[in-house]
Order: sequence, then structure tokens, then C-alpha cells
Amino acid sequence: MGQAPVQIATAPAPARAENDSTGNTQMAFTFLQCIEEACGRKQDPGKELHQCAYCGGLLDVKYEFDITDPDALRAAWHQRRLSGEPVDRSGVWRFRELLPFVGPNDRIISLSEGSTPLVGTRRAGWWAGPVHLTIKHQGINPTGSFKDLGMTACMTRAASLGVRIVACASTGNTSSSMAAYAGRAGMKAIIFVPYRQISAAKLAQALDFGATVIEVGDTFDEAFQLLRQVASEMDLYLVNSINPFRIEGQKTIVAEMMEQRAWRPPDYIVVPGGNLGNASAIGKGLRELKEMGFIEKVPKVVVVQAAGANPFFRTIQSGSRELIPVDKPDTEATAIRIGCPANWKKARRVLEWTGGLCESVTDEEIFEAKAALAEDGVGCEPASAATVAGIRKLVRAGKIERHADIIAVLTGHQLKDTDYVIRHRSAAEDSRQRLRVDANPEALRKALEAVLAVPA
Ligand code: F0G
Repeated sequence: MGQAPVQIATAPAPARAENDSTGNTQMAFTFLQCIEEACGRKQDPGKELHQCAYCGGLLDVKYEFDITDPDALRAAWHQRRLSGEPVDRSGVWRFRELLPFVGPNDRIISLSEGSTPLVGTRRAGWWAGPVHLTIKHQGINPTGSFKDLGMTACMTRAASLGVRIVACASTGNTSSSMAAYAGRAGMKAIIFVPYRQISAAKLAQALDFGATVIEVGDTFDEAFQLLRQVASEMDLYLVNSINPFRIEGQKTIVAEMMEQRAWRPPDYIVVPGGNLGNASAIGKGLRELKEMGFIEKVPKVVVVQAAGANPFFRTIQSGSRELIPVDKPDTEATAIRIGCPANWKKARRVLEWTGGLCESVTDEEIFEAKAALAEDGVGCEPASAATVAGIRKLVRAGKIERHADIIAVLTGHQLKDTDYVIRHRSAAEDSRQRLRVDANPEALRKALEAVLAVPA
């Protein structure tokens, strides 16, 4: 701070005229700010910046919010749930006063994302604690993952800048989400994925939405690094979570879950950690809601990584101020197979702000957690189940209290990785659950008798 004069371009207008009915003036000004303590410079949001123009650090989208009456805004957000307008149906844009970078004439690129359920658990909460475990299921989004929340914000931003070609590197979910929103916006989508490392379902989604898929490198980190090298010279607009507008969309999950709980924050919010955009977004959302008086208590944010891809855990554990990357990340939870997370500094800040924790769990523990969730009728992809595995471990270590009030964010849908499920079935399970029966009534009767003899 306090270096060259700062240039702050202001967002030209309030987000929506109707906001006036909330009693808040909504004249929020938008700027970008470098997160590095030694720099911290404010920058023009009108430029296509993903990183600080001075030091290369990550950027935050910042606003001078003018929200003086949180109760009026809460009432307006609630009221919009009854509206049929697409912009009100979206669980992101319903909270648009938190995203005032959007101008009144901007085209909102939305697929009615968000508005996902909070689901109580019984067995999974018992298994993991006992704790009061609630699931925020982000798999119930248009493309089946939490990425849609960030994508609607980022693609709306891209459209307002007149972008024609968007690109990302991905472990699969970002790519399917970007492909869908690019289709909607009429943009060309180019996806970099590590060769044969993403689930077939995610690849199929991206192809189905018409994206070009470039399989390059052996890890996400390699594909991402290569993309970053060529993006600007090839005029590709990056929509990975280093793009701070992705974080803006993703932060609205916090407003939605607080509203669903009548604005009573839980003790903990637990997320799986890959590139660490989601933890960063949730922390930013919490901070803004606290600063504006929407919540009084700030939940602790907990990040759980897979043991074979746990650079953030190693870094936090060791107290290192530099990232300790993992060269060859390895886990069956392919969504979070990342060795060098781009947003680690933002995520570290969130742990510091919220008094949060970081944990690391084995693939075996992830598998068990996924099975515990399944007993409650809750399906998810493996990376998402890392949350519940992490909670169990932290309760056992005495770092999370028994009976704590916890929200686990399940980030992706069960059908995102069905190969995983099939691969993990034991012969014993298959002989019990998957029967091949000769096509005659006698054989069928016999098979059913054997099934019915086993109690439910
Ligand atoms: N869970 C799922 C299902 C994911 O797809 C990801 C990230 C994460 C958790 C981790 O979130 O990166 O914000 O810490 N997937 C990215 C992708 C990397 O390309 O789809 P994060």
C-alpha cells in the first residue's frame, strides 16, 4: 500500500433499479485489489486482469458496499424466491446486491444455478462424530457441481467485456460448467485437461456442450501452467478460479445457506480442497456478510484434502509461509488431484480469518465416508465425501467438538464418477446386490426367495 497513485475505475451504476425498494441505496463501487500484503494495490476492474499488474499476486474483487439495512435486503431476497423472473430464480443472482459489479445493461448468463438443498443426515452425522451434520448439496446444480455458481458470475463478466473465447484447465467439473455457460453465451470454449485423468462423465459433458477438449500433460497442474503460458498471447479469456469473478459467484453459497438456516451460522463449514477457490470464496462471503451485519458469528472454515494431493495441508501443518507443492498428486478423487493450488494464499487467509482447520484423508477414508453418506440416501462424487471423512478424523482428534453444528459442502453429483463406484464393488457386494438371473419364472422365484430371506 501507499505506493504509486491508485487508479480506481468505478462500476458505473447500481446493480438493478428495483433494489431501491430494499431501502439500501446500492451505489457500490467496484475495484480489484492485490491480496499481497507487500503490494495491496487497487486496480481498474474494467481491465481484463486476473493477477496484479504490479506484482502478479492474486486479486480480490472489492466493493464499497452501501448496504445500511440488512433486514430490508434479507426480506427482498426472500421475496424474490416467489418471483418467476430467471434472475430471481437463480440462487446466485437472487443475491445480486452482493455482486454489484454487474451493470444494469449487462446480459446475465445464467442457467438457474444455486438454490440447492440443505439436507439433514442421521447415520452420516453419527458415523462422523456424532455431530449435527447437514449437507449443502452442490451436485444439484445445472451441470452437477458447485462450479456453476462461479461460472455464471464469471461468464456474465466475460460477456460484458465482449469476450469471444473462454478457456480453462480442469479436473473435469470446471470444464463441464464452462462448456455449458459458454454455449449459453454463444462463446467458443477451449478446455485443457490432463491426459486420461478426468472422469468419463465430465469429459462427455464438455463434449456434449460443444467444447474443444485439449488433453495435455499428466496432471492438472501441468495443463494449467501450459494454459497460463499461452492464454494471453492467444487471446483466451481464463475462467479458472484465479479469475476473481469466479470467486464472486461462488461466495453466494454462504448467503443462501444462512438464509436457509434463518441466518443462524453453523459452527463449521467444511469443503474439499483442490485449487482452493471454493474455500476462498466461502471465506470472502462470510467476511462480507459479517462486515455488513447479516451474521454475528463466523463459522470456522475447514478444508479437507486427499492424502495423495495435500499440498495445502502440508503447508498449514508445517507453518511454512511458502507453499509445499506435491509433485505427483495421486488420489482416486480425481476432482481434487492437484499438487500446486493457485488460490492457496487466499485459502490460508480464510483459515486465519475464521480460525479454520485443514485435514488430510486417505482414499480409503473417503470411500468409507461416501458409503456412510449413501446410507442416508445422499450420493456424491468421491472428492465431496472427503469432507465427511475429514470431519470424522477431526472429531476423533478432538479438534472438532462432538455434537458440533456442521455444514459439509458436497461439491459434485454422484453420477459424475460412476466408474469409481463400479470399480469399488467387492465380489461379496456384487453377489448380494447384482444378480444375473435366467429368463424364466422358476429361476426368478428362486433368486427372489434368496433375496427376501435377508432382512432389510
Ligand atoms: N470438489 C469437486 C467435485 C471439484 O470438482 C473440485 C475442483 C473441488 C472439490 C475443489 O474445489 O478447486 O475450489 O478447491 N475442481 C476443479 C475443476 C479443480 O477443474 O473442476 P477447489
